[in-house]
Amino acid sequence: MNKTTWGIILAAGKGVRMGESCNGTAKQFLEWKGRPLYWHSAMAMSLSASVHGLIFVFGQEFVERERKRIQDLAKLDNLGLAWQAVAGGQRRQDSSANGLAALPTECERVLIHDAARPFVSPELVRLVANAITEAQPCIVPGIGVTDTIKVRDQANRGFAQGTLPRSDLVAVQTPQGFWKPLLEKAIRQVQDVTDDAMLLEQFGYPTLIVDGDPANLKITTAEELYLLKEDCSQLLPCSGLGYDVHRYGTGRPLKLGGVAIPGGCEVIAHSDGDLLLHALMDSLLGMASLGDIGRHFPDSDAKYEGISSAILLDEVLGLLSRAQVKICHVDLTVVAQKPKLAPYAEEIRANVARLLGLPKISVNFKATTEEKLGFTGTCEGIKAYALASGLKNADDKCGCLFRL
Ligand code: CTP
Ligand code: MG
Repeated sequence: MNKTTWGIILAAGKGVRMGESCNGTAKQFLEWKGRPLYWHSAMAMSLSASVHGLIFVFGQEFVERERKRIQDLAKLDNLGLAWQAVAGGQRRQDSSANGLAALPTECERVLIHDAARPFVSPELVRLVANAITEAQPCIVPGIGVTDTIKVRDQANRGFAQGTLPRSDLVAVQTPQGFWKPLLEKAIRQVQDVTDDAMLLEQFGYPTLIVDGDPANLKITTAEELYLLKEDCSQLLPCSGLGYDVHRYGTGRPLKLGGVAIPGGCEVIAHSDGDLLLHALMDSLLGMASLGDIGRHFPDSDAKYEGISSAILLDEVLGLLSRAQVKICHVDLTVVAQKPKLAPYAEEIRANVARLLGLPKISVNFKATTEEKLGFTGTCEGIKAYALASGLKNADDKCGCLFRL
């Protein structure tokens, strides 16, 4: 069996040093770019190509909840790795031990990473992973310290006992990389440590320091929460086109943009037949590179039979928000020989704006005929186009959510 490298993402801490600033939410569950912090590390690992699988370690009470969340996120972001979620322990090293115990036997190298470091890059993951060998079983990324570091006096009376030579000091980050068999042995025997490398150091194995990344900061106190502020300068324009057709016939009374159109026209449809909202949803999904409504709401699934398109649109808006895509404007066109739609244009426009949570100025509706040509001209059917434009987050700092 091929030997593999796995990552362990430690997310079982309580975030005590964060105080009350997150209203009781542990920092690893804070949302940044529409995803929990721990997920950003998972994506960096998945993009590094050196990693084959992931173990997520959560507090016991969160394992089930997060397992479900990961199932959704993995589909949305295409994680592409085997994974498991397990319960952590009291101390960080207990969580590491539980993560290690869950690794598959073919795993030979392991990367242990703090979920509280969401800015980790795939390059750093790769650098650490590729440096691990049996002969060099312990790798840590480190960066030189810029502050002068003093040591407190033993009695902790507020005095400095001495000053450490700054040029000798290195601030250590995660992921830390290990030859798994050695780490397994060490973790059972060692007492208190503050990072995983200390486990092997205590057995006399050398720790190799590779270049860390100054951007790979850890969120520890409330003062560091500013790091999670969104940077609007990183937004990129995006657009999406949607198109839908329905055949006229005995079926469902015509509805456009959620507005019932009187006059007796009916369309044949599996859903509620609101082709304008269908075109709109496809344009929105297109804008976020999320495929089409057929993929998200297959018409082979009975639960979508006759379902209100407004409900589906709500789900699409949820997908967009998780993908950090903001809608700026939608332009809608219906092509129909009959009925005459001008009398309903304003109502449709207002209703679509309401459904999207946009001001009316951001929605346009128009209707046209095809001069009695084609299937709309012969009144066999009706069609709709939607063009959506918006902004998406192009910040590649964490190297994960949006690769350009
Ligand atoms: N961690 C863990 N299990 C623990 C303690 C910590 O998995 N028993 C994880 C945290 O979730 C975090 C990482 O280890 O991702 C680094 O720990 P730290 O920054 O100390 O986080 P917390 O322990 O949550 O914070 P605090 O020490 O302020 O309580
Ligand atoms: Mg801690």
